[in-house]
Amino acid sequence: MTGSPIGATITLADLELDPYPHLARLRTDEPVAFVPDLDMWLVTRWDDVQLVHDRPDLFTSATEPSWLNTVLGTNMLGSDGTEHRRLKDALQPSFTPTATGGWVTDVLPRICDELIGAFDPAGVDLMTAYAEPIAVRALQDALGWDNATWQQIGEWTRGVCTGLANFANDPELAAVAAHANEASGTSIRERVVPNLAHTGLAADEIVNNVRLCMSGGINEPRDGIALTVWTLLTHPDALAECRNDESLWRPACEELFRWISPVATSTRQATTDVEVAGTTIPAGALVAAVISSANRDERRWSHPDRFDLHRREGPHLAFSTGAHVCLGAWLGRSTVRVAVQHLFRRLPGLALSAPVEVRGFEFRGPLRLDVVW
Ligand code: HEM
Repeated sequence: MTGSPIGATITLADLELDPYPHLARLRTDEPVAFVPDLDMWLVTRWDDVQLVHDRPDLFTSATEPSWLNTVLGTNMLGSDGTEHRRLKDALQPSFTPTATGGWVTDVLPRICDELIGAFDPAGVDLMTAYAEPIAVRALQDALGWDNATWQQIGEWTRGVCTGLANFANDPELAAVAAHANEASGTSIRERVVPNLAHTGLAADEIVNNVRLCMSGGINEPRDGIALTVWTLLTHPDALAECRNDESLWRPACEELFRWISPVATSTRQATTDVEVAGTTIPAGALVAAVISSANRDERRWSHPDRFDLHRREGPHLAFSTGAHVCLGAWLGRSTVRVAVQHLFRRLPGLALSAPVEVRGFEFRGPLRLDVVW
């Protein structure tokens, strides 16, 4: 593919290490770029990312073939139009403030306390000792999924995500994913399907969409918690301000979602030849609307590479926009805020005990977050 000289030089490995310098170059010089290593077009400016989200007639989520539907079974994120609406409308009530608000205010702080109480006094990796169990428990409790432990569901989630990332069709990885799909499917069928019988969805539809929620609703709050803790520990002035003024925890978490978006892209497929920012994306091409880039677009934000607790420049795109806006946005952002606030309240001396490596393009977060207090 010609016409994207910068895109042609960018590899997935570059993006996984640190996507931001590459995305900045693309925004400036090649805002719609074909990246052969991903076999996708990247759309990187704020306005153009919004356009992709807002025009499902031009950019469909029901891609053909659909990797998401193949691995998880047909689900809402791999669908469009009335089919998508039907699935989303049936499941949305389980994730509203009405359904989960009491959990956030009453149950989540107790879960946080239990986990902190069980910390090894010598120090812990917060990813595994705190962020992951909280993220799994949020989804479990929203769905009444109580016939499996959080450890088990965490393990299945890793297996399901292995399948989603198995682009080279490695048979060993496919076997891991198949096992996780089957075991989680059995557990969901036994407990979650009866809980959601009132939605009118078929059992397979519930299973497939709960698997989507595992792959899309556990790693993200986990990474959101860990990224926010890391960011505040490395921006001590901002942390001190949050400690002094409780109303700042919310903007701190929102600014984190803008600054390092745990989910980087929305994948779509061009339904026809479409011109965006002067470049024609051919019909049938896969398109990644790069949310993490839009959230750093200098056309939209002042000093976008700075984590600024007092930024008041309007909403970011970390939970997407348009028809496929995140199903768990309210629960996800509430979980992150309460978990972070509670941790800093309980452990005033919290400090990093090892260098932190933040990695990943599509899903970005710390590999580990070692702390003492
Ligand atoms: C807290 C961190 C979270 C972030 C940053 C996040 C981000 C996103 C983004 C960017 C999308 C749009 C993807 C696209 O358009 O292609 C999305 C969709 C989705 N998210 Fe989340 N998410 C989070 C938490 C959750 C949680 C807790 C759940 C659990 C229910 C969840 C379930 C979903 C589902 C089912 C969709 C598909 C919605 C649709 O197709 O209409 N997410 N999320």
